[in-house]
Amino acid sequence: MIKIAVFASGGGSNLQALIEAQEAGTFKGKIGLVFSNVPEAKALERAEERQIESVAIASKGYPGSREQYDQEVLSLCLAKKIDLICLAGYMRILTPVLIKPYLYKLMNIHPALLPKFGGEGMYGHHVHEAVIKAKEKESGATVHFVTEGVDAGPIILQGDVKVLPADTPETLAERILKVEHRIYPEAVRLFCDGKIKISGERVKIIL
Ligand code: GRF
Repeated sequence: MIKIAVFASGGGSNLQALIEAQEAGTFKGKIGLVFSNVPEAKALERAEERQIESVAIASKGYPGSREQYDQEVLSLCLAKKIDLICLAGYMRILTPVLIKPYLYKLMNIHPALLPKFGGEGMYGHHVHEAVIKAKEKESGATVHFVTEGVDAGPIILQGDVKVLPADTPETLAERILKVEHRIYPEAVRLFCDGKIKISGERVKIIL
């Protein structure tokens, strides 16, 4: 059984989608830890409601370096025997301290069709604002492995939506979130079933 940690800093609707998918038997894995860098994150409450262990280490005011912070998080994941980390609205750029030991065992979801509209500063409403400003006809969501470049790792799954003329960043975000809730559990299912292979830094899905 694959043991999963979900990292979230905010509302945690993707966490919720993953919890529900687990309960529905969508993937053969178990969310054994919810971690947050924001002690008051709603995601932690969602975990507690489902009796999932939750841990928060406040990043704001943390006395050490980013690497020291990630070392603590890494130690926690290793102690809990976590096989897969899913970032779900985790608003912190990871350092190699955490990325290297979990390479290709660490996923993120991004609310755009990467490689477009990714990279530093491209998060939340900034992404949707940029998509609308660029007059894109389509946007969507991407699940990808996390590597050292921001939003740059191999893409696992994408789902798209049409950008409508009347869209605001909020309406677009709402439709994309629905796609996220569909594709994230699916990516976790593929991982748990051992269907994801990496070849030349690209993902190959074995059907
Ligand atoms: C999502 O849009 C996700 O793509 C991005 O952060 C948001 C998190 O939303 N990385 P939620 O906390 O899961 O509701």
